[in-house]
Amino acid sequence: MATYHIPVLLKESIDGLNIRPEGIYVDVTFGGGGHAREILSRLNEDGHLYGFDRDADAENNILPGKQFTFVRSNFRYLSNFMDWNDVEKIDGLLADLGVSWHHFDDETRGFSFRFDGDLDMRMNKQAGKTAADVLNTYTEENLAGIFYHYGELKSSRAIAKAIVRTRETQKIRTVRNFLDVLKPFFSREKEKKQMAQAFQALRIEVNEELEALKDMLQQAADLLKSGGRLAVITYHSLEDRLVKNFFKTGDFEGTLKKDFYGNVLTPFRLINNKIIIPDAEEIEKNPRSRSAKLRIIEKI
Ligand SMILES: C[S@@+](CC[C@H](N)C(=O)[O-])C[C@H]1O[C@@H](n2cnc3c(N)ncnc32)[C@H](O)[C@@H]1O
Repeated sequence: MATYHIPVLLKESIDGLNIRPEGIYVDVTFGGGGHAREILSRLNEDGHLYGFDRDADAENNILPGKQFTFVRSNFRYLSNFMDWNDVEKIDGLLADLGVSWHHFDDETRGFSFRFDGDLDMRMNKQAGKTAADVLNTYTEENLAGIFYHYGELKSSRAIAKAIVRTRETQKIRTVRNFLDVLKPFFSREKEKKQMAQAFQALRIEVNEELEALKDMLQQAADLLKSGGRLAVITYHSLEDRLVKNFFKTGDFEGTLKKDFYGNVLTPFRLINNKIIIPDAEEIEKNPRSRSAKLRIIEKI
């Protein structure tokens, strides 16, 4: 059976949470359960871990024992589910953002340009718009914005125009259909990188990844006890910028607020001033960890 996922920055992130054995923890991106298993191994009988994932496939990895509760939900509803479980405050939360290996390696999900198949890309297959819906219904202006802002593609306007022209005669339903539209805009040498950027852009839009991240971070900050920790692993610059600003200032624009005396007002203390990234050994074993960045804060 294919590996579901290999956890990234495992020791660094869980050490960074400074686990209290009797504490209440949340892993908002349960996936294959690699980080969750490590958190659980550091809890005693009074401790508890809640694991969120919006993808039903993650349910196959649910961990045994009464210290673990799986929540199949988008993490943007974190507070609601904590309320539902009568949890007022938490000691720590981990977010290991994006998708798992499982998503990229499942030919039927449309996340990878390595396989032809339906352009779906939804992490939760039961709800919301698919990547094909986005390509076939969004305006040219909106499409250009997505490829420019989420994919950082210079030819975003031309790509959007070509999508709109193509769909006038034939709907874009499959990975192959989409690649046929994209390829003329990419040079041979940069083709793979640019295709990955285009796929990433579409995935971020389909799953509303940035909106969900913002909602979750704000709720996590409210839920954390004083002295509680929040560790976030990001994989692209858009999500990293949001996390960096929020950790530094408590808002997403990164605006520093000061009191009357000029002291910086922030709800958090940075645990690592410098971002933590995988070392050469980890990247060699797991090349997909290459772009990972870990940031950790403590609630004051
Ligand atoms: C990088 S993987 C996490 C892997 C996990 N740490 C492990 O060790 O196996 C990210 C997971 O988070 C889930 N996910 C991404 N965004 C989510 C969201 N907004 N709400 C809930 N789950 C989400 C994905 O379905 C995926 O399973």
